[in-house]
Amino acid sequence: MKKPVRVAVTGAAGQIGYSLLFRIASGEMLGKDQPVILQLVEVPFEKPQQALKGVMMELEDCAFPLLAGMEGFDNPQAGFKDADIALLVGARPRGPGMERKDLLLENAKIFTEQGKALNDVASRDVKVLVVGNPANTNAYIAMKSAPDLPAKNFTAMLRLDHNRALSQLAAKSGKPVADIEKLVVWGNHSPTMYPDYRFATVGGASLKDLIGDEAWNRDTFIPKVGKRGAAIIEARGLSSAASAANAAIDHIRDWVLGSNGKWVTMGIPSDGSYGIPEGVIYGFPVVTQNGEYSMVRDLPIDEYSRTMMDKTLAELEEERAGVAHLLG
Ligand code: NAI
Repeated sequence: MKKPVRVAVTGAAGQIGYSLLFRIASGEMLGKDQPVILQLVEVPFEKPQQALKGVMMELEDCAFPLLAGMEGFDNPQAGFKDADIALLVGARPRGPGMERKDLLLENAKIFTEQGKALNDVASRDVKVLVVGNPANTNAYIAMKSAPDLPAKNFTAMLRLDHNRALSQLAAKSGKPVADIEKLVVWGNHSPTMYPDYRFATVGGASLKDLIGDEAWNRDTFIPKVGKRGAAIIEARGLSSAASAANAAIDHIRDWVLGSNGKWVTMGIPSDGSYGIPEGVIYGFPVVTQNGEYSMVRDLPIDEYSRTMMDKTLAELEEERAGVAHLLG
């Protein structure tokens, strides 16, 4: 039997948590031969702690053979101890009348504290995925608050956007999702993101040529992927949860077990490539192998793409400027 992997999850009693934890415990994230220990973190208030207890009871009732242990926590210093993987899902949602700036600052406090806790107590190789919004900037704050950990281990979730784009492209082209390769979603997990299928292939042939409809790309596809989150809220009355959990599983599974040569999108700290300033957590195409990701480099960027990539960058830089005073 392999040594169990410690997976810390914040926001464990929330919507995404409820769709996520059972799949982690069943082996869908790390493999059917990999035991896990779940370290579940919620805010220190009665209701969420009580809800967390209920979720843990249900996890128990599944009798998952791979669930080697489980504990609930009300603070990250205890909850992140020795974590090999940290899924930072919990975040402050936007309340009525709350300005975007206030939302950023409220979350900055949470992710500063969580970054420090990771720095203090997590495994030195911890792989961090930030799901809680604004995901890219929250990941940036956590990374900056954890100076003793490798910056490359802090990532933000763009995979839901990637998967959304894949499905739209499959529907438009009539090709199976599994056959579409080399898709990219650049930038921020927000409506400014830029889903880009210029390099995408189906069975080696260009998907862009196959679709052959640039007006659809610009006027339908890009806005539809960007506004998909809002469309789900409108339809369901609640934000995406099962699809977000699914994307988190995809992100970590590929990071740990490899993407077999396929491109996937991860929000990662820029190394200055593609004109994106170093350190900005930005959606890039990567391939993953042996527990590491590497950026797909030297893709040609045309004028339209440059404009789109700069627009989403400008939003990230604005968010970064809004929290700079907290990061010293
Ligand atoms: P939810 O409100 O159902 O659950 C969030 C949970 O997090 C709550 O139980 C809350 O008590 C907990 N929480 C809040 N602050 C915490 C903290 N400091 N430590 C530990 N737990 C904390 O929300 P849901 O639907 O599960 O979404 C979670 C986050 O994921 C939201 O910020 C949402 O915007 C984001 N999201 C991100 C997506 C992405 O693609 N990156 C996609 C969908 C949602």
